[in-house]
Amino acid sequence: MADNQGNKVAKDYHLDVKPAQEGFYLKGLNHCDWGMKNRLSRIFNPKSGNTVMLAFDHGYIMGSTAGLERLDVTIPPLMDDVDVLMATRGALRSCIPPTTDKALCLRVTYDSSVVKEEMSAGGGFSCDIENAIRMNAACMAVQTFIGAPGESNSLELLSRTVDAGTKYGIPTLGVVAVGKQMARDTRFFLLATRILAETGASFVKTYYCEDFEKVAAACPVPLVIAGGKKIPEDEALTMAYRAISEGAHGVDMGRNIFQSEDPLAMTKAIAKVVHEGYTDKLAYEYFLDLKNSK
Ligand code: R5P
Repeated sequence: MADNQGNKVAKDYHLDVKPAQEGFYLKGLNHCDWGMKNRLSRIFNPKSGNTVMLAFDHGYIMGSTAGLERLDVTIPPLMDDVDVLMATRGALRSCIPPTTDKALCLRVTYDSSVVKEEMSAGGGFSCDIENAIRMNAACMAVQTFIGAPGESNSLELLSRTVDAGTKYGIPTLGVVAVGKQMARDTRFFLLATRILAETGASFVKTYYCEDFEKVAAACPVPLVIAGGKKIPEDEALTMAYRAISEGAHGVDMGRNIFQSEDPLAMTKAIAKVVHEGYTDKLAYEYFLDLKNSK
């Protein structure tokens, strides 16, 4: 029971100190509720303002993917050096130790597998908001197909995820997919990223492209870039460096990490670019040093 006698008298009201009135450090997100900002702060490092997301959700459409044959073997050694784990609930529950303190980006939609001619029907929900909360998701990811047959369906899924996430303070990542019939050009990425942000995504995942600066400037919320198909390590680091220099707030990278000759060295090198301002050249030297020191 609270004491009503003998208590110290409260007297230090710091009358000379103005209350902190700082805006939130992530663009376009100052209006969000405290819980959502807190989750976003687990995703984007408040010091650098950026994030390293490790994507290993490929199995949801690709089945067993090169480098991800055994998630329980490949992923845990990389986890210390990333901010976010992006995966399906099945992968997390079966292969990732729940003791991790990393933020989770939970993929909440399914789509047609790569066996189909065109994977852009838009799919449906693979996980509802209660499951996302149960998984302790820091955000939910929805794949979208702008300019493809699945556009309308995927935007509906995105809208419903944003609605549910807003109710419980969970941010939504809008993912730009590029269908076979679409050109990977500035015009497309300007269109797609803006549509996802205006539909309510808290941040958007896209691909690096020419004039990326314009794409980043025109998107009112943070952008992160996917890595895409495996390319040589120095080129992947250059892509990450350019993206960050031109306005991206991080990477959500999969194959260029887990298919690398040295996934751990690559994860660490990417983190140097994203969080510590390393140039691509410096980061590649760092990668080689780590790889050769084994
Ligand atoms: C997106 O739909 C995929 O599932 C991956 O999350 C994404 O493409 C990032 O991985 P990667 O860097 O291999 O492209």
